[in-house]
Amino acid sequence: MARVLVAYATKHQSTAEIAQAIAGELRARGHAAEAAEAGHATADGFDAVVLGSATYAGRWRREARHFLSHERDRLAKMLFWVFSSGPIGEPKPDAPPDDDKWLEPRKVIEQAEALGVREHVVFGGRVPQDPGNFVERAMLQNTPEDYQDLRDWDEIRAWAGRIAEALTT
Ligand SMILES: Cc1cc2nc3c(=O)[nH]c(=O)nc-3n(C[C@H](O)[C@H](O)[C@H](O)COP(=O)(O)O)c2cc1C
Repeated sequence: MARVLVAYATKHQSTAEIAQAIAGELRARGHAAEAAEAGHATADGFDAVVLGSATYAGRWRREARHFLSHERDRLAKMLFWVFSSGPIGEPKPDAPPDDDKWLEPRKVIEQAEALGVREHVVFGGRVPQDPGNFVERAMLQNTPEDYQDLRDWDEIRAWAGRIAEALTT
């Protein structure tokens, strides 16, 4: 059994729910996992970390960026995984080739890779349901309902399941 911290950074809670689903799946598979806000968490005392952030305008939330840099010495010595959550709306077949930097901030991924991250993935996100500004309100109004929540819970649980296996072997 491994002690696993699932640290997350969110603005509108959809990433928190992904982190809770990951922690739940890890617990179901016999590990001691807890989800916690990255801004209030430390990797100290854990065997492994999953770190996730919502992506806004091509950037991770500040709390997740800070966690990655403050905890870098510990992360370098432990097993850790990273996820970004973001893509929403109708798929864009004509997306430019560098579109991926909006999904996974490159600098963050380079830092995580330098520390030996096991895997980094992107999960679909959810359009803010409680818009706090004009841009978010426009996004909610302009995104068809079917494309507002692109979180794929089977995909998320399957990823957590693979982490659980890696922690067991
Ligand atoms: C103003 C704004 C900018 C966004 N920018 C990005 C982006 O650059 N890349 C991306 O993948 N998703 C982007 N999104 C989608 C969010 O990442 C998505 O809504 C996410 O699920 C929000 O997570 P949260 O509920 O945990 O805050 C953006 C959303 C808003 C409202």
